[in-house]
Amino acid sequence: MATPFDYADGQLGVDGVSLADLASEFGTPLYVYHRPTIHAQLAAVREAFDDYPTRVCYSVKANSNLRLIKWLNAREVGFDVVSAGELTRAVIAGVPAERVVFAGVGKTEAELRQAVASKLWMITLESVEEAEAVTRLAEAMGGSAVPVALRINPDVDALTHPHITTGRGMDKFGLIPAEFEAALSWVLERPEVELVGLHMHLGSQITDMRPYEEGLQEVVRCAKQAQEAGAPLKWINAGGGFGISYGGESVPAVADFAAAIVPQMRPTGVELVLELGRFLVGPAGCLLTTVLYNKPRPARQLAIVDGGMTTLLRPALYGAEHRVLPVEEHHGALEPTDVAGPICESTDYLARRHPLPRLESGATLAILDTGAYGMSMASHYNSHPGPAEVWITEDGLVEPIRRRETIEDLLTIDMEAFEA
Ligand code: LLP
Repeated sequence: MATPFDYADGQLGVDGVSLADLASEFGTPLYVYHRPTIHAQLAAVREAFDDYPTRVCYSVKANSNLRLIKWLNAREVGFDVVSAGELTRAVIAGVPAERVVFAGVGKTEAELRQAVASKLWMITLESVEEAEAVTRLAEAMGGSAVPVALRINPDVDALTHPHITTGRGMDKFGLIPAEFEAALSWVLERPEVELVGLHMHLGSQITDMRPYEEGLQEVVRCAKQAQEAGAPLKWINAGGGFGISYGGESVPAVADFAAAIVPQMRPTGVELVLELGRFLVGPAGCLLTTVLYNKPRPARQLAIVDGGMTTLLRPALYGAEHRVLPVEEHHGALEPTDVAGPICESTDYLARRHPLPRLESGATLAILDTGAYGMSMASHYNSHPGPAEVWITEDGLVEPIRRRETIEDLLTIDMEAFEA
């Protein structure tokens, strides 16, 4: 689905809500999410996979807002968490433990203890040592066998940006073949754990079906091996990664992902798990930021705006390109425009040479498709407080879902030691 934000009566907005009005009411930088779009994305996944038993999970890292987790929980999705922090968010939002999968390549002992104690749906193990650690904890803590999954590293290139590729043999994630053999025998011999799943996650923003086909081939081969060895497998988790269109370019439909994944699943007889982040929430969001200054630069205008890499890191970190639109519709000439933030780093750009009209100080820009990995990757560098978040409901109501941070919020922890 394309972005829901469009021009009506000269104003960029959605469902009769003008983004310019939101910027004046809540200030900028401001993340705005259109909830019906999240709903539509979720419905599209469920429909595409409806002829195979599939559980759709939300990958909390994409956008960890508590209200969002609570709302998704009411729609009975599962949740993929990768830290005690994300697990705690899910618990606070009311997610039942049996709908949480806990992945992550570097879980600490404290995190594993919390995961075991919480009796989660399954804990995904990414190394032999981690399998040993969970068994030790499970033994010490008693109780029934802990459901675990093994994350396979199938040595497949996701054909996406190298920084978001996770399933090549040299990558840190998952178990390569020698580790898989060892981890498999370990968990099968230990009554404290029960091998209920296999997992892969190849990377993010994937727009080619080959990685899913090749990766799943390997996972299905491992599943057969595990089943023959007596593992009570119930789930194959094909991870997340479905790509979205950032620049308006055509990308595969969710049905294409289903066509690549489902036929491979059929012979296994186990259920499919998906854990999607970007696909569910990415297109639903935009970031509003205000132009502070317009500086002349050779062959381009340079707009300095109030949100930068601390608000939206993707362009600085991956060279990601998001569409940028002025919230006031403009029919004049477009100029190549660099949109740069206030942070003291040369890489602090939100867009480079993007076609935009002449921008006056005070103009508001919308950076599209920023519902995923926007707010969740924000930082406090240069002591910038985090932005506010609002969403637009199915009834067209605007609800704040996280207030803007203050400098006092930032200083709270420092002050404890400062005043001591
Ligand atoms: N499952 C696991 C184990 C993951 O590590 C991830 C994302 C997902 C699921 C969800 O992937 P998605 O459906 O969102 O592609 N910050 C980067 C993306 C990093 C993704 C990390 N893992 C970005 O802004 O592009």
